[in-house]
Amino acid sequence: MTDHIRTELAGGVLTVTLARPEKKNAITQAMYAALAEATQRARTDDAVRVLLFRGEGDSFSAGNDIADFIALGSQGGAVTDAPVFHFLKSLADLDKPAVAAVRGRAVGIGLTLLLHCDMVVVAEDALLSAPFINLALAPEAASSLLLPQALGHQRAFEIFALGEPIDGATALSWGLANRAVPAADVDAVAAELAAKLAARAPNSIRKTKRLMRDAERLWALMQREGEAFGSQMASPEAMEAFMAFSQKRAPDFSKAG
Ligand code: COA
Repeated sequence: MTDHIRTELAGGVLTVTLARPEKKNAITQAMYAALAEATQRARTDDAVRVLLFRGEGDSFSAGNDIADFIALGSQGGAVTDAPVFHFLKSLADLDKPAVAAVRGRAVGIGLTLLLHCDMVVVAEDALLSAPFINLALAPEAASSLLLPQALGHQRAFEIFALGEPIDGATALSWGLANRAVPAADVDAVAAELAAKLAARAPNSIRKTKRLMRDAERLWALMQREGEAFGSQMASPEAMEAFMAFSQKRAPDFSKAG
């Protein structure tokens, strides 16, 4: 159990709030377990028509908790039975619409989660990044397929390899978001879209979503990515990157190889 994920069902919309603002909503193992449970509930509970992800405080999410990376990496990096994988499987399986409301930072899975949302509202000044290579890791959440599919190879590669953020306006123009609005309006605009979706014919919307994405292929890719991610997580170059983050310094990869 964790207090860092809150869920609320109203008007057919299950709102899931990442609620660890003091750590920019970095996601721990316990939070992944709660996210998996909420996403499975969204699929199986007839009262839920739409799933809405949002973050408390000034950021959507700073991605995976790096202290957890250190712990998992030192255990050999086997991640495919970790709670994050239950969450990824539940996302691949989700055939009801998902909406995201993104303010501030969306890092790592904070960005790749958006690739599984059907409508995304970003703040104009949001900053989205996937610095997997800065952390000596590899892409996850089927982003090695979905990001280049959305942006084209070169833009996706740059996001993975340089790890520099793009702002909300760029995310909109690159096709990663449906709306870019002032930060103060993000939650309201996303809630309005979610309410519209919740009023649509539920079976029609589920069949449409199922036709638009191949859940089995996404899950197979998530597992393959997990092998690369897990072996990197246990690598000396990743440990150097995690320690550098903890010590608030730049990583030194000059001796890696
Ligand atoms: N894991 C664990 N703790 C994290 C975190 C993460 N992914 N992201 C932020 N935090 C913590 C910071 O260590 C800091 O904790 P402290 O107050 O105890 O020192 C707190 O959250 C606030 O973060 P801070 O770095 O001071 O905020 P900022 O506004 O200067 O920068 C980010 C925000 C998101 C740009 C920066 O925190 C960051 O780069 N985080 C790591 C993102 C990342 O690489 N995630 C993994 C992707 S795979």
